[in-house]
Amino acid sequence: MIAEQTTPLLSVRNLKKHFPIHNKGFSSRVIGSVKAVDDVSFDLLPGETLGLVGESGCGKTTTGRTILRALDPTSGQVMFKVDDDKIIDLAAIHHKHLKPLRPEMQMIFQDPFSSLNPRMTIGDIVGEPLVVHKMARGSELKDRVAEMLLKVGLMPEHAIRYPHAFSGGQRQRAGIARALIMNPSLIIADEAVSALDVSVQAQVINLLEDLQEELKLTYIFIAHDLSVVKHICDRVAVMYAGKIVELCETEELFAVPKHPYTRALLSAVPVPDPDVKMNFDLHGEVADPANLPPGCSFNPRCSYCQVRCKQDIPELQEIAPGRQVACHFTEDLD
Ligand SMILES: Nc1ncnc2c1ncn2[C@@H]1O[C@H](COP(=O)(O)OP(=O)(O)OP(=O)(O)O)[C@@H](O)[C@H]1O
Ligand SMILES: [Mg+2]
Repeated sequence: MIAEQTTPLLSVRNLKKHFPIHNKGFSSRVIGSVKAVDDVSFDLLPGETLGLVGESGCGKTTTGRTILRALDPTSGQVMFKVDDDKIIDLAAIHHKHLKPLRPEMQMIFQDPFSSLNPRMTIGDIVGEPLVVHKMARGSELKDRVAEMLLKVGLMPEHAIRYPHAFSGGQRQRAGIARALIMNPSLIIADEAVSALDVSVQAQVINLLEDLQEELKLTYIFIAHDLSVVKHICDRVAVMYAGKIVELCETEELFAVPKHPYTRALLSAVPVPDPDVKMNFDLHGEVADPANLPPGCSFNPRCSYCQVRCKQDIPELQEIAPGRQVACHFTEDLD
């Protein structure tokens, strides 16, 4: 169990990432914005796994990429604990000061090889971050790659193979090896197991859990599959239209969802029992972050919507210790 007084590894405060929408004409004037991430705040304790869930387009990937500064934030703070007496605001830091921090935080993607050179061997792919950061070369590089391949359940002799000669599960293991080779503290896994077969998915999840313990890793786990999230995450943040609408411990979230959106999302999870009738509450179109409705973004789809919901944006509020919900009427839900 994580001690309550521990300083967070990561404190995200009021993070926004708005993409400008330009006029298609000559002037290319800014005529609006896509509010992909809109005032997101949360803490992440060392060693914990926080799930980030929500429908497609709700801003999960953009949140992850903005935290790691693959995207520059529009505003907000990303306080990252580098060591016991050094906390840095990643959102404010100049690009040239980011490079030495890069080894500390890594992202794992659904298909880590889609953006990599298919003519590179697995060994070169896994070892590349060490080369780029001038952290190892020659035989030391080879040894560290071999050690990392073993850690993720591959063989050192796999180093000379090319990505096409691997199965999906093996490729994902190599992607994990590449992310971990520089000894990061924070891993953002973005749909890291979503493309894998269920049995391979379970193996890779077990691997991520084992590595977390062994290497003291902290995870943000982005996924649309709620059963995976339920299994792996300590806490879950539910996002809708760029905002966190509910955040609490995983068990509580699944047992008693407090936001109408979380309820609807959970009701849409298929249950492997033909006698259980699906109660599909999630009707209507997902909100367009370029054109949000006034008030609560979820109001057009919400079964509990009232006048106030169409006027005031609900704040994410602590309704019980460790339990945050952004809904005007959460107390009134039965
Ligand atoms: N570079 C960009 N320019 C403009 N809009 C963008 C850009 N990147 C993302 N968006 C928009 O921001 C919103 C959030 O996208 P994001 O990829 O973060 O969603 P997501 O929750 O990861 O979705 P998915 O589950 O499909 O991966 C979407 O409406 C998307 O179209
Ligand atoms: Mg995404």
